[in-house]
Amino acid sequence: MSTGKIIESGFRILPIQILVVVLLFGLHLSGLVDALPALIIAAVVGIAFFWIDRRYRIVVNRLTDALKTARSARRNLAPLRAKIAEGIDAPLLLIDPLRKVLDANRPARTLFGNNLIGRDVSLYVRHPDILEALGKVMQGAPIARLEASLTGAVERIFSISVSRVDNSRHASDSDRESTEPAFYVVISMHDITKMRVAERMRADFVANASHELRTPLSSVIGFIETMNGPAKGDEAAQERFLGIMEEESRRMVRLIDDLLSLSRIELDKHVQPKSSVQLEPILKGVAASLEPTVQKRHMAINILVPDSLEPVQGDADQIHQMLQNLTSNALKYAYEGSTVTLSAQPVERIPESGQRGIAISITDHGPGIPPEHLPRLTERFYRVDAARSRKLGGTGLGLAIVKHIVSRHRGHLDIRSILGKGTTVTISLPIYQGLREPEDHP
Ligand SMILES: Nc1ncnc2c1ncn2[C@@H]1O[C@H](COP(=O)(O)OP(=O)(O)O)[C@@H](O)[C@H]1O
Ligand SMILES: [Mg+2]
Repeated sequence: MSTGKIIESGFRILPIQILVVVLLFGLHLSGLVDALPALIIAAVVGIAFFWIDRRYRIVVNRLTDALKTARSARRNLAPLRAKIAEGIDAPLLLIDPLRKVLDANRPARTLFGNNLIGRDVSLYVRHPDILEALGKVMQGAPIARLEASLTGAVERIFSISVSRVDNSRHASDSDRESTEPAFYVVISMHDITKMRVAERMRADFVANASHELRTPLSSVIGFIETMNGPAKGDEAAQERFLGIMEEESRRMVRLIDDLLSLSRIELDKHVQPKSSVQLEPILKGVAASLEPTVQKRHMAINILVPDSLEPVQGDADQIHQMLQNLTSNALKYAYEGSTVTLSAQPVERIPESGQRGIAISITDHGPGIPPEHLPRLTERFYRVDAARSRKLGGTGLGLAIVKHIVSRHRGHLDIRSILGKGTTVTISLPIYQGLREPEDHP
């Protein structure tokens, strides 16, 4: 290597000094120079050369050290780079110009198969769009980008870049017989499934909300037209239509109120409420506000709360709102004449946070909810029976609001239902922790 050459090819200073002394001694012997000047010249030349020699060695040693460090850094960098690639949470593939996979990090091996290193890439990466992009880059394009969805156990959508990396070693070795490829191709894949799902949900939400608002609005417009046209002067019909129009308008207001609360709760979902909230008065308040429905359906609400129940940490209005939504569901969907039970009791661990909490259950006796619907009930506008829900004045947003309030409170929501028997919804909220010092704010 070059470092070795520098030291070996360095001229030796000692022999030159000896040469000068011998030369001067020769000149003195042949009588050309006197002894004293010869001695002085020899001493000056010797000291000068001695000084040059020291400087020279210091410089050479420094250069040698620097080169050694650089060499060992380069030696250490290769495995480090491999480790970085291995630790990156996105599939990465390194391919040579003959389409052979030279390297693949762990996510890539998990996605395409463990044995792909050393094999032809098209045996493992079968997506036609990815192979087409690879073809373009092999033929000289510097980079190709694409989006592809790969179906495995679950469908995942990837944003993929296929880029050509020229091999500098190939260029510097061009004068020799080189085995280095002229370039490599790097395929890097970024999972964007969550982003796409969120976009789809947003678009669905706007479409659903518009549809929910449009239906009552169309009905109101229809009645106005009828009252202005065929039913003009028909007082009995007009009275009936006005009643329906009022009901439809109220539905729109309810819908807008629910949409507004949902967006308000979502806005500060990262801020956990800090107040101390007593549950018993809230449960009593909810029961009192739903008294008209209880009367109408000949039902009863039973409240079961232990004597000394610790307060929970939360926002009293939001806790009231979610208990109201759940109790109103129980009253709407349970059998006529049945009893709805609201109960609260301490629990040692809330599943997500592990904190101590209070579990509040709302239990009804009714037809229940088929199990296949349970996982989707908290989606916005999701209903088991949309027509029935609408007839009962539902917006399809009640449980979505409950889910958001629970998660803002760092609580837990559980819905269990037995067909033909009834449903129990349980919410666990953390016990009030007292006021803690705000963290890392002056
Ligand atoms: N206690 C219950 N018993 C039976 N079905 C229920 C119960 N609670 C909720 N559901 C079902 O879940 C759906 C979603 O509830 P929710 O979000 O409150 O909307 P809404 O009550 O406005 O329809 C309801 O349409 C209903 O089909
Ligand atoms: Mg509801």
